[in-house]
Amino acid sequence: MRFDIVTVFPEFFSSLDLSLVGKARERGLIAVQTHDLRDWTTDVHRTVDDSPFGGGAGMVMKPDVWAEAIDDVVGAAHGETPGTNEVPARTVLAIPTPSGAPLTQGDCWDLAEADHVIIACGRYEGIDARVADYYRGSGMEVFEYSLGDYVLNGGEVAAIALVEAVARLVPGMVGNPESLREESHGEHGLLEYPVYTRPTTFRGHDVPAVLTSGDHGKVARWRRDRALERTDARRPDMLAALTPDQLDKKDRAKLAELGWVVGEDGPLAVVVDEAQPAEAEAVSQLAGRLFPHACPPDMKPEDVADFVAKNLSERDFAQYIADPNHLVLVARVDGQIAGYSLAIIPEAGQVHEGAPAAALADGADEPLLVYLSKMYIEPQWRGKGLFDILIRDTLEAITAAVDAPEIFVWLGTNIGNKRAIRAYKRAGFEIVGEREFFVGEQVNKDLTLAIRANMPQ
Ligand code: ADE
Repeated sequence: MRFDIVTVFPEFFSSLDLSLVGKARERGLIAVQTHDLRDWTTDVHRTVDDSPFGGGAGMVMKPDVWAEAIDDVVGAAHGETPGTNEVPARTVLAIPTPSGAPLTQGDCWDLAEADHVIIACGRYEGIDARVADYYRGSGMEVFEYSLGDYVLNGGEVAAIALVEAVARLVPGMVGNPESLREESHGEHGLLEYPVYTRPTTFRGHDVPAVLTSGDHGKVARWRRDRALERTDARRPDMLAALTPDQLDKKDRAKLAELGWVVGEDGPLAVVVDEAQPAEAEAVSQLAGRLFPHACPPDMKPEDVADFVAKNLSERDFAQYIADPNHLVLVARVDGQIAGYSLAIIPEAGQVHEGAPAAALADGADEPLLVYLSKMYIEPQWRGKGLFDILIRDTLEAITAAVDAPEIFVWLGTNIGNKRAIRAYKRAGFEIVGEREFFVGEQVNKDLTLAIRANMPQ
């Protein structure tokens, strides 16, 4: 593979004699040639730029000088005589520019398969646009790329970055090709996990114990979880680009912890926040649709409908949302409401019917018992971690909303609703008692469950 770099600062590229790239050049795996653009000028001042048509600041690099240089570099690499290349070589004209598309690892893998990469380093306001247009039009592959959303003084640093990123992917360059797959922006689409070496304790910071445990399975899981966490914190766009087949059950549990659910096309960020007054209708519709799911099968449909009309109407939700003692949270997935919770904070001294106060008061002070009246998830999102996200955020919101030394959150759920009971237990709730719950005339047996929402102060 051959790189030709055309620049007004050939001195910039002495760093390419060093390290892996330097070694690869010595071993003949890659060839790198730098050329001074001014060698193709024809005037005494060796002029490479001129003022922009249409006005504006700065200078633009001249297309005629560039084209002479590129033609010669192409000719020198491929032989001047047509037909001398039996296998058509893949030549790419790479132009670093802040207005290019951001360079990706995928681009580098692709360029590593090219035979010849010519890098045209612009300075000033850039190269006359007709240079890229002309070579593209003449059938050459033209690749305009940016190193990132900031402006450098010229393309030289970006050219060095490209040579280094592409050259290390050329077969034979890196001893262990597997390491290329694992690193950040490798095939698994995540940032790399943090790495450690000796000493095991450095300035009071220990190496995570799992890494010295010798348990390869645990190490792999730990690394994967850290990679997911890092990618969530730094590059959520990369998480959103994963596909479901890249994620196992434990990945999905970790993602749920980080606030993501995995839909049919891949991970989607969940946003949980307080319902807005304008959302009363949408939440009441969801509540009306999902309340029957929480009822035992023998319940009369007219009783269910009556309960919904009396407790879960749009007017009811408008009141709940406006009332500071009601906390209505909605979980949005892809902008759509996918679940909600409704918590009722009691006034001082008030105890909700059925509240398991006695079971929880283990000290002299009565704990504050916040009643989690509803917690519903759209069926399509059940079993995907949305419940865990919403319950966690609900407990956090309750703790933030009330000022009490000891807060318990409790709820009642039908004794036959095994799915809900399992989900609450998984979230840390414990069964603390039973209550009767009336829907119409019918009395239902509920289990009551509770969890401590804050640590005692
Ligand atoms: N030239 C100037 N700024 C640049 C950038 N951000 N990326 C590539 N080339 C550039």
